[in-house]
Amino acid sequence: MRSLFHKTIGFCLLGFAVVSCHDKEDPNYLYMPDMYESEAYEAYGNYDIFQNGQEAKLPVEGTIPRGWMPYEYQNNPKGFADAKANLTNPLAYSSENLAEGKALYTIYCAVCHGDKGDGKGILVEREKILGVPSYDDAGRAITEGSVYHVMYYGINNMGSYASQTSIEERWQIDHYVMSLKDKLEGKPEREFEEAQTSLLPSRADANLYDDADDVIDGSKNQNNQTETQE
Ligand code: HEC
Repeated sequence: MRSLFHKTIGFCLLGFAVVSCHDKEDPNYLYMPDMYESEAYEAYGNYDIFQNGQEAKLPVEGTIPRGWMPYEYQNNPKGFADAKANLTNPLAYSSENLAEGKALYTIYCAVCHGDKGDGKGILVEREKILGVPSYDDAGRAITEGSVYHVMYYGINNMGSYASQTSIEERWQIDHYVMSLKDKLEGKPEREFEEAQTSLLPSRADANLYDDADDVIDGSKNQNNQTETQE
């Protein structure tokens, strides 16, 4: 009896000794820890596990990211000429698109091209940049396609706007630039169109996961509102 009593006390003390040294800040013992500590790879790191030893991968050939469209005209004189002749604005000439285009134009283009598109922006007046043409420059005879092309790739002293603007925004600016050109040439204002063309299926429209939902609960998920990157 007495020895059982001692054994119990001894056992409790031992247990206490084991537990008392545990630091609450440390993770406890892990059972099969491989899922607790994941192997995270650095985006541009070298790792043998990957085929070319590099973590960063190119997209699979022939695939494009959702919400992005390839631009088929090359950045060379032929590409410029083709875009100028054949590329047209897919967006409706609506008052919303024009208003949006004006706002963006004022942010991105007016410093050089001027609010009226006459090539007399503030940077030109201060002689910070030279050779900015007016949009009614007959020698250039800009078209919807050529305007888009130069926004996409830039031209000489003018940089590209492909990274600051989405496809849709570029076409909105394009409408506004063409409206400035008309004004400079004294042409009457173009009539607004009603229809709002959606250029790209955004992720929200795409209902990407509808099929998956059908399998899970048979209902359509309408709240699939992920922001689209373009
Ligand atoms: C930093 C000043 C600057 C800004 C900002 C700028 N441009 Fe330009 N742009 C130029 C210059 C300079 C040229 C003449 C380039 C050349 O042909 O040498 C030009 C040329 C053009 C042309 C005529 C291209 C042709 O067909 O010959 C168009 C159209 C144009 N810009 C549109 C835009 C639009 C739209 C924006 C805004 C998204 C913009 N630019 C922003 C400086 C600028």
